[in-house]
Amino acid sequence: MKQTGTRTRVGVPRESTRHERRVALVPKVVERLSDLGLDVIVESGAGAGAHLPDSAFENAGARIGDPWPADVVVKVAPPSPEEIGRLRAGAVLIGFLSPLAHPEVVRALTDAGITGFAMESVPRISRAQSMDALSSQANVAGYRAALLAAERLTRFVPMLTTAAGTVPPAKALVLGAGVAGLQALATLRRLGAHTTGYDVRPEVAEQVRSVGARWLDLGIEAAGSGGYARELTEEERAEQQNLLSKSISGFDVVITTAQVPGRRAPTLVTAEAVHGMRPGSVVVDLAGESGGNCELTVPGETVEVDGITIAAPPNLPAEMPEHASELYARNVFALLELLVDADGALAPDFGDQVVAGACVTGRAEER
Ligand code: NAI
Repeated sequence: MKQTGTRTRVGVPRESTRHERRVALVPKVVERLSDLGLDVIVESGAGAGAHLPDSAFENAGARIGDPWPADVVVKVAPPSPEEIGRLRAGAVLIGFLSPLAHPEVVRALTDAGITGFAMESVPRISRAQSMDALSSQANVAGYRAALLAAERLTRFVPMLTTAAGTVPPAKALVLGAGVAGLQALATLRRLGAHTTGYDVRPEVAEQVRSVGARWLDLGIEAAGSGGYARELTEEERAEQQNLLSKSISGFDVVITTAQVPGRRAPTLVTAEAVHGMRPGSVVVDLAGESGGNCELTVPGETVEVDGITIAAPPNLPAEMPEHASELYARNVFALLELLVDADGALAPDFGDQVVAGACVTGRAEER
């Protein structure tokens, strides 16, 4: 992988996944990569979904061309089998590679001789915060989930005092107060909702309060390692569902974001709890892709049950492609910076915790 004399080429393909409008690098970041001594080749139209024309990339120093023969290919969504076939053996691929949910991608990359760095495998430690793409994209998702809930709700979110009388503010509950949950709480609060947050990690109570929300304490604690929760036991799960069912009926908006990496999403909102909500209320389930936190969720769909909307959007960051791409590109830059030496040549140090943690395929002998 080490190269001498030639500049490392970084390829940016146009994303092929349906409805994916993000792009892995933006012009501002291309400029910074040139300063690092890297050449960037962007596929024509790669930035179109994010309103970034080819000319913006060219003005930033990139070349428009075929990105696939590059030394490093940077993507957003996991590669399709065809895309893996276009990478050259020995190349590096950086992107969301979904190693836990789709191990077949990792297997195909291994077979193709690719060194894969999965953005979702970057360790969640302070030093790697600038590379934490799960967080940057979850922030976008939490924000969009709050807006989606406000839009579908058949009532006002803020309190209104009008000549025709006073309208009370909507009550919103967010289940799972990680990155997406905290952003959803903050956004709902800015819209004027009365907000409440819940999580099984008691240490996030302070963060929930810091965004102006009430903390719902059900007395079930399940902190795990690395800033994640552990899976609940059967009894804890039943107790949680029972207690939450009693609370949920009092809320107009419920946004769910609970997850334990690599596991099926826990069911927090039962069908019974949904039936107890007032018609016109909304549930937005961000965990649809991993099975959903609501029993009535149809992943990727918006359904209505007894007048209650249950939305499980599959890819909210793609609906806000400009800022989502910009933040993602900065995450990719921070990782790339760690993978090259002072001359811009690829020289990943697999003794580095972040490099080793993010690397999910290839160069096993160096890890
Ligand atoms: P995170 O790991 O920061 O937060 C998840 C939170 O859920 C943690 O605070 C954890 O303690 C909590 N949790 C786990 N089990 C729980 C339980 N049984 N009860 C209550 N809380 C529990 O994750 P992040 O980045 O905020 O993402 C949240 C979810 O949103 C994930 O499922 C992720 O895949 C999804 N997501 C969805 C997007 C979309 O467009 N649909 C986009 C981005 C993320």
